Amino acid sequence: MEHRALSRLAAPAVAALLALTTGCTGDTVQGRPGASGLRDPYFPRAGNGGYQVDHYALDLDYDPADGQLHGTAVITARAEQGLSSFNLDFSGMNVEGVTVQGEGARYNRTGNELTVRPAEDLKKGEVFRTEIDYSGKPKPLEDPDGSKEGWITTEDGAVAVGEPVGSMTWFPGNHHPSDKASYDITFTVPRGYEAVSNGELRSRTEDADGRTVFAWHSPEPMASYLATAAIGPYKVTTGRTPSGTGLYSAVAPGEGTADTGPLARLPEMVEWGSGRFGPYPFATAGAIVVPAGTLGYALETQGRPVFPGAPAEEELVVHELAHQWFGDSVSPKSWKDMWLNEGFATYAEWLWAEDHGGPTAQEYFEAFEAGDTDVDKDADVAWDAFPPASPPGAGDISADPVYYGGAMVLHRIRQEVGDEKFFALVRGWAADHRHGNASTADFTAYAGASTGHDLKKVWDVWLYGKARPK
Ligand code: ARG
Ligand code: ZN
Repeated sequence: MEHRALSRLAAPAVAALLALTTGCTGDTVQGRPGASGLRDPYFPRAGNGGYQVDHYALDLDYDPADGQLHGTAVITARAEQGLSSFNLDFSGMNVEGVTVQGEGARYNRTGNELTVRPAEDLKKGEVFRTEIDYSGKPKPLEDPDGSKEGWITTEDGAVAVGEPVGSMTWFPGNHHPSDKASYDITFTVPRGYEAVSNGELRSRTEDADGRTVFAWHSPEPMASYLATAAIGPYKVTTGRTPSGTGLYSAVAPGEGTADTGPLARLPEMVEWGSGRFGPYPFATAGAIVVPAGTLGYALETQGRPVFPGAPAEEELVVHELAHQWFGDSVSPKSWKDMWLNEGFATYAEWLWAEDHGGPTAQEYFEAFEAGDTDVDKDADVAWDAFPPASPPGAGDISADPVYYGGAMVLHRIRQEVGDEKFFALVRGWAADHRHGNASTADFTAYAGASTGHDLKKVWDVWLYGKARPK
């Protein structure tokens, strides 16, 4: 911290000194490089300093036959300091050109950092437009826990999932959840292919070469890890929930349909979630079922979660849906806050069961305490291997304690404050931070203030505790 404060002081001091010695006005030396990372506790290089993105416009041309992607990213951002250069996170691909405010910009690449040096320094507060042209075959990344993320090719297409940093494999950006933005994602694909992404399908047209152009629009702020793409011969189903939220789902061949199995209850689950957590945060809902085996997990991509093969259990559909409130609308400030995503999504599974004739949340809580797999087949996992709010390393942010230990923290609050205050807290939290970001400290402060209970013991033992909670 001291170091940060010092360097913040140092820049103006150096500028003043330069102005004195060279006789220049402050203007000519006001820009300085934006930071190359946001110092996230688990992914320190993720994201970049000095600006905040308002909007991404991605124009992506993909050919499944050869795996080549041609992209243009137009990023509209606001400078938070004078900038002589700034960084974007980008992995692989060839950068063909960069302009800032329409003028050619110099750039260079080191690792996953693309450094852009505009022809003219950007002023603090300036809204500026950066265009990056790129091409190549995007490649997925391996997560610290060994799973795959990013752009993943399938037998007849591709899927993109980005938690935590995989989105940098298919578009340059400020890839940290603390910088949310609206998106327009347009895909051009060969005839016969569907291209599915987040938000609303604005148009589906044919270009001069007979290819299909899909224009997707996400007006609500989105963390970049929640951006998705699914290209392939999907079967699309559209509709509306009983209360009018739009539905758009896409299912890979051989994976059933959107109206069979657990997915068939999605419209009803959206209504249920709105009752439990407050209004559904997005204009559309749905699901993308990608070919089984494409990836080893489901992901709560915004408005339209990705499932690897048809989900076999209602709980999984409920889990990804609950993330739309917890994770997608209320997003973590850093990857340390992951339990706020996964604890709530797991607790939602327990609530769904409780409300639909299954075990109560109290029964789930007791089952996990006792390791009783009759109530939940996962009840014997090492949910207490570490405290939910302190994963030991980057490979642990999606580990069991974050999910089940996180859900147990929420249930402990419910035990302390009672149902009425607990559900008011859940709805109030989702409302207060709707379409924003929040941290663990924000949550503990809010929980205490909104319920009027001193929850320090719950935090000490269940959230941050080192020993097994007793
Ligand atoms: N957030 C996803 C979910 O709970 C799981 C992501 C798993 N990713 C990983 N690298 N293990 O639905
Ligand atoms: Zn989850």
